[in-house]
Amino acid sequence: TLKGFHSILIGVIVPSFRLPFFANLIESMEKHEAYGVRLVFFAAADNKIESAIRSLVARGVGGLIIGRSIPESMKIYQLLAKQHIPYLVLDQNSNQQAHDRIIVDEFRGGGLVANHFIGLGHTKLAIVSPQKMTHNMLQRQQGFVEVLAPKNIQPIIINTADLSKHSGYAVTKKVIASKVSAVFVLNDAMSLGLIRGLIDSGLNIPRDISLAGYDDDDYAQFVTPALTTVSQPVTDIGISAIKLLMNRINYPNLPAQIQKFNLTLIKRESTSIYG
Ligand code: RIB
Repeated sequence: TLKGFHSILIGVIVPSFRLPFFANLIESMEKHEAYGVRLVFFAAADNKIESAIRSLVARGVGGLIIGRSIPESMKIYQLLAKQHIPYLVLDQNSNQQAHDRIIVDEFRGGGLVANHFIGLGHTKLAIVSPQKMTHNMLQRQQGFVEVLAPKNIQPIIINTADLSKHSGYAVTKKVIASKVSAVFVLNDAMSLGLIRGLIDSGLNIPRDISLAGYDDDDYAQFVTPALTTVSQPVTDIGISAIKLLMNRINYPNLPAQIQKFNLTLIKRESTSIYG
């Protein structure tokens, strides 16, 4: 390093490196690493969050980006206040809200998919969601359910283990048995697995069943059929996370910074008119 030049180390915690959403988030942060900023990434499952924070603090981070949902019971600020480490949160629950954060309107995101299905004439619907729901995923599901309620449509909820491709594949039989005409899968990774499962079972998407995902991961437009999905502005989220955290580091007394991003529904080949 140059004499007299100090770069700042920022720790980023995500739940997994394998999910494309987080791989894209990391890539965006790396690409836009500001001058004088170094990033260190940590993948931590639910029960490893505290130890991830502790090891990043021990490595001398000057700021933290909590890029994963924190369980409701855990008060992240209590853990970090003692350390006096500036931090920013993404995908959080209401317990963590009195802080710098980036939010996307998950509730609206779920609603976009519901309206799309209704517009195509579907009335028998299912949701594929992970067993353990984080706050943001719950909002996503609620948004879908609440748009359907006034139409007297109650979606069948099909639970699976987690957000992975395998979990999507694993519910294939249940989705077929539910006899729905359209299914909302709460992220694209699970969608990819379910698409494979349905094709393996001889079904045609969207002729036999429509399927929509969430995230708009980079492969969504390349799979067959190209996936209808809700696009999250993951690149902008990554850029903004670093920018806001650097603001906080440079101006510690700023009021809470809240950055909101919009979601858009990207209509592709995996959804079509009922019947
Ligand atoms: O695919 C990973 C999901 O987990 C994304 O939808 C993101 O919002 C996160 O919560």
